[in-house]
Amino acid sequence: MKPLTKVQQRKLEKAARIAAKASYSPYSKFRVGAAVLTHSGKIFSGTNVENASYGLCNCAERTAVFSAVAAGERKIRCVVVYTPTRIATTPCGACRQVINEFGPESCVISICDSTDRIDTVLSALLPGAFGPENLA
Ligand code: THU
Repeated sequence: MKPLTKVQQRKLEKAARIAAKASYSPYSKFRVGAAVLTHSGKIFSGTNVENASYGLCNCAERTAVFSAVAAGERKIRCVVVYTPTRIATTPCGACRQVINEFGPESCVISICDSTDRIDTVLSALLPGAFGPENLA
């Protein structure tokens, strides 16, 4: 897939950093921000939203993907994840599966507060994924 422009990348990274500020994470105290770029060029951001019933916590990536889908955007081109940490964090397994549904070829970029950075693609994070085509 065509690489993102520097401007697109910068906008996504900024959106992910801003999203983390709204994190509702009183239990883990682990703030996460995510931003997704759709094929139409729109950016949707999200953060992790925890719950006193711990199992109901929702990751930043899924919040962002669900916002895109709720706005009618079903094709994801890139996901950026930001954590205010020294090492970059890749999406958890559940989020990889959700990203696969709408962006099996998307790029996934993880950034943090140091120069550490992971620049990869969803298919490398979730090889042999189970997806919609398996149900056809
Ligand atoms: N979390 C995310 O938002 N994204 C990830 O990729 C990993 C984990 C959140 C879930 C929970 O609110 C907190 O980080 C600690 O696991």
